[in-house]
Amino acid sequence: MEEKKVIFSGTQPSGDLTLGNYLGALKNWVLLQDEYECYYCIVDLHAITLPQEPKDLRRRTLEVLALYLAAGLDPEKVTIFIQSHVSAHSQLSWVLNCMAYMGELNRMTQFKEKSKKNAGNVNAGLFTYPVLMVADILLYQTDLVPVGQDQKQHLELSRDMAERFNNRYSPTFKIPEPFIPKVGAKIMSLQDPLSKMSKSDKNENGYILLKDDPDTIRRKIKRAVTDSFNKVRFSDEQLGIKNLITIYSKLSGEEIDVIEKRYENKGYGEFKKDLSEVVVEGLRPVREKFEDLMRNKDYLEKIYSMGAKKAEKKAFKTLNKVYKKTGFIPRSYR
Ligand code: AMP
Ligand code: TRP
Repeated sequence: MEEKKVIFSGTQPSGDLTLGNYLGALKNWVLLQDEYECYYCIVDLHAITLPQEPKDLRRRTLEVLALYLAAGLDPEKVTIFIQSHVSAHSQLSWVLNCMAYMGELNRMTQFKEKSKKNAGNVNAGLFTYPVLMVADILLYQTDLVPVGQDQKQHLELSRDMAERFNNRYSPTFKIPEPFIPKVGAKIMSLQDPLSKMSKSDKNENGYILLKDDPDTIRRKIKRAVTDSFNKVRFSDEQLGIKNLITIYSKLSGEEIDVIEKRYENKGYGEFKKDLSEVVVEGLRPVREKFEDLMRNKDYLEKIYSMGAKKAEKKAFKTLNKVYKKTGFIPRSYR
């Protein structure tokens, strides 16, 4: 039997998940679960590169897990786990840190953006964040990494570093490929269509959270920034509307030109009203399942314990190879 290709991806539990996370990442992960061997991680080690309140970090870690399940990931098919439970991630990350160049990390746009935003707390972890992400990916001999557009540069680093290690020692890591959706890879802020929808946005009208109630969703869409053309067109001259059409299309499954046609002679008011219902109905089952799951902490614990066990097996196989090639003496010859 041909072996299934491996998929790895992760989300930081550093805030509430947005519609951007769902459409750019989660929704696609669900589509891949039958065909691939999938590892979906909650990357709590990454989250602490920015200050976190311990009790919020704990709660959000469980919330991300519950959202993975609510979005449709089946724990029988995929491995869902918490990054800090598998110590191989930190261990490989150290070895790779010793092979990463300051120059290449300095070029990472996410680092530049985040350090600008948090000028008072630019810690070394924020700088080496991408290397930990490289470790996440390479530990599982990953073929494909489904992410939003913003992660493309980190994926390139993963490829470079895998090749660097393989060349310096001998073939050890698979070279991973990014897997970025054609539509919806970058859902933009509802208040500023030039920046991505982000859970860390100061203006809460910029994002829709997966756990927002219907009235909040309707209010945020009503306030979404548009333009004065008053034409529902998918065009770079109308970035606000383009973003709203993208959301409509991703959630309803309808093609963009079908949507444009339907609203050809209609104004933004009607379009936004319908879009609100598409979003409310699209997210309703996710939100309801999420609320159910959050009431069942025992079940969540079962899932992440089982996930860590499965992940660990694969991760340590790779880590052991790396340690050996690096020249570390194995602790025992069992
Ligand atoms: P993060 O929340 O930054 O850990 O991101 C988790 C996943 O969601 C990554 O694959 C991101 O690329 C994706 N993602 C986050 N925000 C957006 C967005 N606004 N549009 C599309 N994908 C996104
Ligand atoms: N850096 C990613 C983000 O912010 C999260 C992440 C960490 C990740 N490790 C990963 C994504 C490995 C894909 C694969 O979105």
